[in-house]
Amino acid sequence: MRNISVMISGGGTNLQALIDGVKDGRIEGARIGLVISSRDGAYALERARRAGIKTIVISKDDYPGENEKAEAILAALSDAKTDLVVTAGYMSILDKRVCRAYKDRIINIHPALLPKYGGIGFYGLNVHRAVLDAGEKETGATVHYVDDEGVDSGAVIVQRSIPVLKDDTPETLQKRLLEEVEHPLIVEGTNLALRRFV
Ligand code: GRF
Repeated sequence: MRNISVMISGGGTNLQALIDGVKDGRIEGARIGLVISSRDGAYALERARRAGIKTIVISKDDYPGENEKAEAILAALSDAKTDLVVTAGYMSILDKRVCRAYKDRIINIHPALLPKYGGIGFYGLNVHRAVLDAGEKETGATVHYVDDEGVDSGAVIVQRSIPVLKDDTPETLQKRLLEEVEHPLIVEGTNLALRRFV
């Protein structure tokens, strides 16, 4: 049985998709052993607790610097005997040491068709606003490996697109993408990444 640790900062609908995927067997041979939040009060923590998953908050406010925060993350991942890290709405850039320690074992979901609309500044509604401003006819989501070379730049695992509709706003696009694409895609991407361990 492989151990997944999920890193979050917000509402955690993608975490919920993973919890449901483990529960109903769409994710096989793995469990979620730990949820790490970058901030107290994230609703995703509530989802984890309800599912009986151990949680820990590692906020930059509690550490003197990046090094100490990275050490805390590494210790938590190691305690949980983590095989695979999934970042899902984690609003902090992972320290290079964490990326290197878990090389090829960290995946992320991004709400765009990378390499488009990725990198610093492209998060949340900003992504969807940029897609609409550019007049794109389609958008999508990407599950990709996280490496230590840049933000949203690692190898793509799986990607799926949906059409942008004439009346879409950043909010409608965000909602439709989460429900129709991201939630099934994070389950699929996690399964694909887990195959590496078989
Ligand atoms: C998702 O759109 C994900 O792609 C991005 O952050 C958002 C997190 O949403 N990285 P949620 O917290 O999983 O609902």
